[in-house]
Amino acid sequence: MKRREFLLGSGAAAGALGLGGLGLAAGAQELVIQPASFALRDQVTRGMVSLSPDAPPPVLYGKQGEAMRLPVRNTLPDYTAMHWHGLRIPNGMDGVPYLTQMPLGQGETFHYEFTPPDAGTYWYHPHCMTMDQMAHGLTGVMVIAEAEDPGFDSEQVINLRDFRLDDAGAFLPDYTQRGAARAGTFGNVHTANWLQAPVYDHGAGGLVRLRVLNSDTTRIYRVNLDSSNARIIAWDGHPVDVEVPLPSAKEPLLLGPGQRVDFAVKMPEGEGQTVNLMVKLPGQPLRVMAGLRAVGASVARDLQELKPLPANPIARPDLKGAELHEFVFGWTPEGGEPNNGFCGSLGYNFWSINRKPWPGDAATDVGPLATLELGKSYILRLRNESPNLHPIHLHGLAFVPLKSNIRTLPRLMTDTMLLLKDEVVEIALVADNPGDWAFHCHVIEHQKTGLTGFIRVV
Ligand code: C2O
Ligand code: CU
Ligand code: CU
Repeated sequence: MKRREFLLGSGAAAGALGLGGLGLAAGAQELVIQPASFALRDQVTRGMVSLSPDAPPPVLYGKQGEAMRLPVRNTLPDYTAMHWHGLRIPNGMDGVPYLTQMPLGQGETFHYEFTPPDAGTYWYHPHCMTMDQMAHGLTGVMVIAEAEDPGFDSEQVINLRDFRLDDAGAFLPDYTQRGAARAGTFGNVHTANWLQAPVYDHGAGGLVRLRVLNSDTTRIYRVNLDSSNARIIAWDGHPVDVEVPLPSAKEPLLLGPGQRVDFAVKMPEGEGQTVNLMVKLPGQPLRVMAGLRAVGASVARDLQELKPLPANPIARPDLKGAELHEFVFGWTPEGGEPNNGFCGSLGYNFWSINRKPWPGDAATDVGPLATLELGKSYILRLRNESPNLHPIHLHGLAFVPLKSNIRTLPRLMTDTMLLLKDEVVEIALVADNPGDWAFHCHVIEHQKTGLTGFIRVV
């Protein structure tokens, strides 16, 4: 099998292969996918994957409306491809193997280059050897700054995720067959920025923008802050324009894999006082995942001083003229085994979209789940036919939830919709970004055992 034989879609070949001539722009820092060792607990864990020597993947910073050049070089013997989750960028830069580009072999570099249209909290992770490389650490935050400074005193990024380690600090298998067929296989070491309950110093009395990402392969985090002097200002990257209640210990926020939440936090006035990001894990007391500690003399800011973040330039769907498409997420009746086109297979099919399991990364003759006309509005009805929760993610487009059969959904722009047990949610979007856009569950074991497809916009 040759890698180049499996490219799906028509526009993809030109987009991916035409990039060789772009070259490395001056000042663009090469991102090198490399092995790493790190003390996630007391012992050093080997066999991790990062972009930094023996440190977590860095936060990547960009600015809304300004070009970013991100040359990614693969030094691993396994194939890879890098995806920029939530960014509405050209399809050829989306990092999905066979759909938008060829997998990157050892020693190869892909020159990602795009201009983020939206400000907010996004993230990056591989989309080839996804299970293995993500489980071993390759997940990082991307911060796209607003064109105009929104007026915080400081910022804190928190990347929440688990690792699955044995008592000696070595990796356990990334997944189990049992887990993949149910809610997924859970990690046992719970980290923020690869650390256990790190504490970060911020000016007393100041306003901190706290950006929280769930980059776990499986876990839906239940989060809250132990302070009520805070506000949710963005959800999955985009500014919220409706009142969203602050989560509490009693009513925590469900943050599914792939999702982000931004808080504006007022730091305590007294030096040494803290605000903590808390998480509720099943069968455990509330746990501090990360702390913000007040330092210095108070700068006496007030949350009221913050102007709302400017809205991102996302087209609002026209619901009257919108065409409806249905998607059913559930088990797969016939099972079978996905193929392995250099991007890793778990060896099983358990899940499906519209009752068809995705045949594997390098699948040939697989069509889109739906073809949408460029510029038109659509309603997508997402039906969860299973008892398990699924964070359903669509690449390249932002969408807004309209309604659910079991709860009221605030109309918050997003790229990832967490479907609850037996839930049916309608979402709406304008199909304004052409290309083949991956559409899958972000529980990686579900994604890699059939719960994947793509939507074509032409
Ligand atoms: Cu965050 Cu298809 O991915
Ligand atoms: Cu994505
Ligand atoms: Cu799922």
